[in-house]
Amino acid sequence: MTQSQPQTQTQTQTQPQAPRAQTLGLIGSGMIGSALARLAVAAGLDVVLSNSRGPGTLTDLVADLGERARAATPAEAARAGDLVVATVPLKTHGRLPSAALAGKTVIDTMNYYPERDGRFAELDAGELTSSALVQRHLADSHVVKAFNNIDFRRLFTSARPAGAADRSALPVAGDDPAAKADVTRLLDALGYDAVDIGTLADSWRSEPGTPVYVNPYMAERPEGLSQEEAGRWFLETPGVPVPAAWVKELTDAAVRGPADGSRAAVSGD
Ligand SMILES: NC(=O)c1ccc[n+]([C@@H]2O[C@H](COP(=O)([O-])OP(=O)(O)OC[C@H]3O[C@@H](n4cnc5c(N)ncnc54)[C@H](OP(=O)(O)O)[C@@H]3O)[C@@H](O)[C@H]2O)c1
Repeated sequence: MTQSQPQTQTQTQTQPQAPRAQTLGLIGSGMIGSALARLAVAAGLDVVLSNSRGPGTLTDLVADLGERARAATPAEAARAGDLVVATVPLKTHGRLPSAALAGKTVIDTMNYYPERDGRFAELDAGELTSSALVQRHLADSHVVKAFNNIDFRRLFTSARPAGAADRSALPVAGDDPAAKADVTRLLDALGYDAVDIGTLADSWRSEPGTPVYVNPYMAERPEGLSQEEAGRWFLETPGVPVPAAWVKELTDAAVRGPADGSRAAVSGD
């Protein structure tokens, strides 16, 4: 799918500073990975994409992204990135190249969906958040959870330059303040404000089933659409701006429910 240009290219005077990251490594180049790659290229970053099947399968996407993009193996993308995004199904997190990611800030977009990922007992028991699980595998990296609570289409189309009245915010969580600051700068460059929701242990506040998860960023879908109409509606409907104050309100209101998101949880329910 060729997506239209996002609105992040117009830089405003309120842009705080250039992002420190110059190259974004991507492990996973599916719906979220390719949306982030497009936003990053539009923001002037280089991107190194990777997937499970090898760089040769990313030729079309790389050609579409232009000269700032190249494809590599996951370990090469990890080494090349000033910041690296891990955006694969959670069930494969144990195959993320931990040695190549040592010392790096790793952005975790992953969500736990047991029907896709299988069951993780520690997540089901509420002993760990999914990002804490990822951090345990990437023991020598600084994991920051971000970009997990917005669908891939709105992620791309709702990006706006700093200071835009309809700019949205996204939650970020992580244990390392410097890594979180790096990711906040990346969000800013890509078109989003950031709301710090705490540590990886706190990151359940943006997991599936919580108030800030996906729905606030989307318009309400009309009733009675056919499957084809629903697909078109999903792709074509603009996002709803969710400012930082609203993200804070929604994440503050969250009440911890099952990690698989099977219960929407808000204060008092
Ligand atoms: N879709 C959304 O709207 C959305 C929103 C927020 C968060 N998320 C979360 O973000 C993550 C990615 O979602 P997605 O929708 O982008 O998934 P996707 O479209 O299925 O893409 C997954 C990507 O991961 C790659 N991959 C799988 N195993 C890998 C491995 N061992 N090493 C390297 N790459 C590997 C796949 O490569 P191959 O194709 O070569 O296997 C593919 O490029 C998931 O955890 C999801 O829950 C998704």
